[in-house]
Amino acid sequence: MSQDIRKERSAIEAFDLIKPNIQRDSVIGIGTGSTTNFFINLLNEAKLHIKGVVCSSITSESLIDNSYDIFSLNEVHAIDFYVDGADEYNDRKELIKGGGGALTREKILANSSNKFICIVDESKHTHLLGKNFPLPIEVIEIARSAISRELMKLGGKPIFRNGFTTDNGNQIIDIHNFPIEIPYDLEATINNIPGVVENGIFAKRKADIIVCATGDEIEIIN
Ligand code: 5RP
Repeated sequence: MSQDIRKERSAIEAFDLIKPNIQRDSVIGIGTGSTTNFFINLLNEAKLHIKGVVCSSITSESLIDNSYDIFSLNEVHAIDFYVDGADEYNDRKELIKGGGGALTREKILANSSNKFICIVDESKHTHLLGKNFPLPIEVIEIARSAISRELMKLGGKPIFRNGFTTDNGNQIIDIHNFPIEIPYDLEATINNIPGVVENGIFAKRKADIIVCATGDEIEIIN
C-alpha cells in the first residue's frame, strides 16, 4: 500500500470521526499538506451544512470549493475541529510540524481549536522528535543569522530554507541533527529567542487525537 493511500485512509477516518458531531454552526479548521489535502477533497465532496472553515495557509484556502464560507480566525469564536497532518509524532501526541512552512498559522489554529485531530501515516512515528526530521523555525529576516548562532548553542545544525517565504512574509530555518528530549521545554526556549516568530514543536498544544494509517489498519491514539 502506497504512502498516499495510507494518508488518504487516515483522512477518511478523521472525516468519519467528526462527521456525526458536526452541526450547522460548526467551524472546521483546515491544516496544510498532502495528507490534509485528502481531507479537503472529502470535505468538498460532502458539502456539509456548517458555518464554514478557517484555513492555515493560502494554499489550503485555494483548495476549498465554493460550497463553504471561508473565515479568518478573527471572524469566528472558536474552531470546533482542527484537522492537520504532521511531520513527526510521538506516543505523547507531541508533534513536529512545518515541513510545508505553515507552522505558525497551524499552531494558532490548533491552539484555538476544541479538538485537534492529527492525521498521519505510520512513517511519521518516532520515539525522539527531531532525530530524523529537521525542526522548522519561522524567523524575522533580519534576525536570521543571530538566531542561527543561538540555535547552534542549543546543539542543532541550522540550515536556511533558501528561496522560501512563509504566508506571513518571513523565512524558515530548519534545524538538523537535533534530537528533542523534552519538547515542552524546548518549544518555549526557542520561542524566547528574539526574532523567532514560532517553532514547529507542538507540545504545549499537542494533538488530542492521532489518526494513523498503518499497513492494513487505522490506529487511533486518544
Ligand atoms: C505543513 C505541515 C504538514 O502538516 C506536514 O508537513 C505534513 O505534511 P504531509 O501531510 O504532506 O506529509 O506541518 O506546514
